[in-house]
Amino acid sequence: MFFLPTGKKAAAYYGDLVLNNKSEKADMPPVIFPHWVHRAEFKCKVCHPAIFEMRSGANDINMGKIAEGKFCGRCHNDTIAWGPIRCARCHSGKPGMKTGLVHGFSR
Ligand code: HEC
Ligand code: HEC
Ligand code: HEC
Repeated sequence: MFFLPTGKKAAAYYGDLVLNNKSEKADMPPVIFPHWVHRAEFKCKVCHPAIFEMRSGANDINMGKIAEGKFCGRCHNDTIAWGPIRCARCHSGKPGMKTGLVHGFSR
C-alpha cells in the first residue's frame, strides 16, 4: 500500500481516530472517534475549529469538560445525541492503541 502526499489527510476524513492521551493512564480503554459517522451528519466547520483543533491529540479533553458540555459533550448530552453515561460507546478501543488514525484494527 502506498500513500499520495494527501493520503494522511484523506484517511483522516474517513477513518476512525483514537484519542488516548489520558484514557489508558486512567485505566479506561482508549476512545475511538468515528470521524466518518460525524462527518456525514455535520459540516467540518461545526467542529473545526469551533470545538476541536484539527490535529490528533491536540485537544485537552477530560470527562469534567465533557460533563460541562464542552468537546464531545457539546452534542453527547442526551439532547443532540446520547449522553456521557454510555462509557463504552466512546471508550471502545483496545489497550495499546495510540492517539491518531486507527491502524491495523477493525471494529
Ligand atoms: C461521548 C464520548 C465519551 C463518553 C460517553 C465517555 N467518555 Fe470518557 N473520555 C472521552 C474523551 C474524548 C476523553 C479524552 C481521551 C484521551 O485523551 O485519552 C475521555 C477521557 C476519560 C478519562 C481520562 C480523563 C479524565 O477525565 O479523568 C476517564 C477516566 C474517562 N474518560 C472515563 C469515562 C467514564 C467512566 C465514562 C462513563 C461514565 C466515560 N468516560 C464516558 C469521551 C467519552
Ligand atoms: C463532530 C465533530 C467533527 C466533525 C464534523 C469533523 N471532525 Fe475532524 N476531528 C474531530 C475530532 C474529535 C478530531 C480529533 C481531535 C483530537 O484528537 O484531539 C478530529 C481530527 C481531524 C483531523 C486531524 C487528523 C490527524 O491525523 O491529525 C483532520 C485533518 C480533520 N479532523 C478534518 C476534518 C474535516 C476535513 C472534516 C469535514 C469533512 C471534519 N474533520 C469533520 C471532530 C470532527
Ligand atoms: C457536533 C455534535 C457532536 C460532537 C461534537 C460529537 N458527536 Fe459523537 N455523535 C453525534 C451524533 C449526532 C451521533 C449519532 C447519534 C445517534 O446515532 O444516536 C454521534 C455518534 C457517535 C458515536 C456512535 C457512532 C456509531 O457508530 O453509531 C460515537 C462512538 C461518538 N459519537 C463518539 C464521539 C466522541 C468520542 C466525541 C468527542 C471526541 C464526539 N462523538 C463528538 C454528534 C456529535
